[in-house]
Amino acid sequence: MYITDYITGTVIQGLGNGHKFGFPTANVQPDTPVTLEKGAYATWVKYDGKRHKGMLYVGTRPTLNLHELTYEIHVIDASPRLYGKKIAFKPVYKIAEEKKFKSQKELANALDDYKLTAKSLLTPSHSHVLNPRLDDINDIMKIIGQAKRRMKERGLDQWQDGYPNEEAVRNDKRKHQGHYFRKCMEPAAYAAIVFDKDPYYEKIDGKWLSDGEPYVVVHRLAVADEFLGLDLAKHVLRFAERKARAKGVRWFRIDTHHDNLPMRNLIRDFGFTLCGVVQVRDGKRMAYEKIIHNA
Ligand SMILES: Cc1cc2nc3c(=O)[nH]c(=O)nc-3n(C[C@H](O)[C@H](O)[C@H](O)COP(=O)(O)O)c2cc1C
Repeated sequence: MYITDYITGTVIQGLGNGHKFGFPTANVQPDTPVTLEKGAYATWVKYDGKRHKGMLYVGTRPTLNLHELTYEIHVIDASPRLYGKKIAFKPVYKIAEEKKFKSQKELANALDDYKLTAKSLLTPSHSHVLNPRLDDINDIMKIIGQAKRRMKERGLDQWQDGYPNEEAVRNDKRKHQGHYFRKCMEPAAYAAIVFDKDPYYEKIDGKWLSDGEPYVVVHRLAVADEFLGLDLAKHVLRFAERKARAKGVRWFRIDTHHDNLPMRNLIRDFGFTLCGVVQVRDGKRMAYEKIIHNA
């Protein structure tokens, strides 16, 4: 199940039964019609500018013999006062079908289980790296699109000429160098981890640390808006480093735009040394290299 954007709505008055069994919920009136199957979902919830873990229930509450379709959100480990507020939610995983429980006690027990499931699904350590499949390409292009938009907003002319495009991502896939990272089932980051010699690195205004030895390069590193601030880019670099180590490759190269300060800081923090300037497809880039130490 993929909902790519947040669903927005307003919290309206509910019946207030939820708090009785320890699961207060916000009844949400979506701004636009939503087509979600009935059931319980692990969901991201945003209010007051922050994102939280939550559970969404879509259903008619048959246990209470009610019939009206409602969208209810329980925020995990918090009891915010949300009545009247704007809220946004993004269900990421369906946990259970709707049921008519024999008692409210049984419903409450089920909710305890759902909460554990939702929490673990939404916890950052549940990230996986995949080689992209063809049906991932839309998600990957979306992540790259978000990175391009952020660069544009910062006035950078990096990635403003259409690159990296779908062709580049398909090519990565063909060469088994595309890596697509998901976190909590959500598209989170993309990078090409390349072991071929990079023609743009043949000439450098400066000096590489290594000389003629094989190296790994990370290209097209992009993180989804949603997962900024979680050190995902570092996770990707660490992953590339582990891959290189496994292949016996000792050198790691990367380049970025002079004005891309977040990336330059990240690269520096990761132990890279600035080696000089290289000319790539659409301009000059700061070129970095580091040695990969044994783990
Ligand atoms: C994650 C989640 C799953 C739920 N699943 C069911 C269900 O399967 N069947 C049901 O009758 N009610 C279910 N409930 C809804 C409860 O009946 C509901 O939260 C309760 O009636 C409180 O509603 P109120 O605060 O509007 O009074 C679920 C609630 C949550 C938060």
